Amino acid sequence: MERVRYGMIGGGKGAFIGGVHRTAAAIAGNWQLVAGAFSSTPDVSRASGLELGIDPARTYGSWREMLAAEAALPAMERIEAVAIVTPNHMHAAPAIAALEAGFDVIIEKPLADTPEAAQAIADAAEQTGRRIAVTHTYTGYPLVKQARRLVTSGKFGKVRRVAVRYMQDWLSRPEDLIENKQAEWRVDPTRSGEAGAFGDIGTHAANLVEFITGERLSAICADLSMLPGRRIDDDGAALFRLSGGGRGTLMASQVCVGDINDLTIDVYCDDAGLHWRQEEPNTLRIGYRDRPTEIWHAGANRAYLAPDVLAIQRTPAGHPEGYLEAFANIYSAFGRAIRGTEDALDEPGFATIADALSGMNFIRASLQSSRAGAVWTDL
Ligand SMILES: NC(=O)c1ccc[n+]([C@@H]2O[C@H](COP(=O)([O-])OP(=O)(O)OC[C@H]3O[C@@H](n4cnc5c(N)ncnc54)[C@H](O)[C@@H]3O)[C@@H](O)[C@H]2O)c1
Repeated sequence: MERVRYGMIGGGKGAFIGGVHRTAAAIAGNWQLVAGAFSSTPDVSRASGLELGIDPARTYGSWREMLAAEAALPAMERIEAVAIVTPNHMHAAPAIAALEAGFDVIIEKPLADTPEAAQAIADAAEQTGRRIAVTHTYTGYPLVKQARRLVTSGKFGKVRRVAVRYMQDWLSRPEDLIENKQAEWRVDPTRSGEAGAFGDIGTHAANLVEFITGERLSAICADLSMLPGRRIDDDGAALFRLSGGGRGTLMASQVCVGDINDLTIDVYCDDAGLHWRQEEPNTLRIGYRDRPTEIWHAGANRAYLAPDVLAIQRTPAGHPEGYLEAFANIYSAFGRAIRGTEDALDEPGFATIADALSGMNFIRASLQSSRAGAVWTDL
């Protein structure tokens, strides 16, 4: 299959997630980075392109320049898709312009800084008929997919309760905000959006709940807080209800000392409880009342896993797979969707625009709930 030619917006020198996207795309193997507008500063963009070995003629000073110049190239040369890895306030404008220029888009979460901007992206996708994938990383892990297969098959009965926590400590001290490129925009509501930790990592937690259960969050009762001197939440907890009638709790924090990137989820159904932890992603624990607890392992030779879960494992059995491979699975699936060779599954292998809009509803409802004194708020 011919690789999907893509251009990147953001992800220049000193950036965080752009490099992860490039590595993931390279592992996926069905993508080729051929152009970029890697920074808001034209010189940094050009220097970044040079470092990455991109043709200088296709390393642009701005994303507007990139979209116009690429759209003018012959069809077999121009980019086919754009990866958007900029801070949240800089998602909507380039995404809409890219869709309108005829390119598919792979974009970071949360979809935008406001629900209105996110809706504008969704409208542009619908009007142009172009595809969008949103990189909710954790849905790319093999055992997360296996958990979804097990829960949505109904073999364990209905979902009764979910507990999800996403705890970090990298913003727990005042000095964490000083000369820290990633922290700087995340605590600024004009660039991050109206939510802090709940938007940044709470959306991952909410997406993971929806992915594994196959349900949507329908209502939330949230209590968000922040350290003194900050303008948006860096910590919070919520009760939520699921569309299927189950209940849950969600915590997201960037100030919980000692936790690095501790995303854990427990999904309790009528007949079993499933437990997965991001920092130990290659095991899935399933507990029962009437039989011993099971530990399911990832691995291409574990024949008890679903065929599509076996198909996305990239390392020899027993060799731990992780973050980059999970991210690569998202690129791989979106590349196949662009080429029309996707698998016929109940989910496309990447978060869709509908999933991302649900994430925006989660953010807005959490903020409304918390501001009103933690009252139940519909999504
Ligand atoms: N999926 C995940 O697990 C995950 C992890 C981290 C970040 N993210 C998301 O990725 C996005 C970027 O986060 P980050 O931590 O990499 O930020 P970052 O600050 O490290 O990088 C942002 C990059 O965007 C560039 N940029 C800003 N404005 C631009 C413009 N107008 N044109 C071109 N480039 C521009 C900056 O120069 C920088 O290179 C955010 O939306 C964030 O929520 C997702």
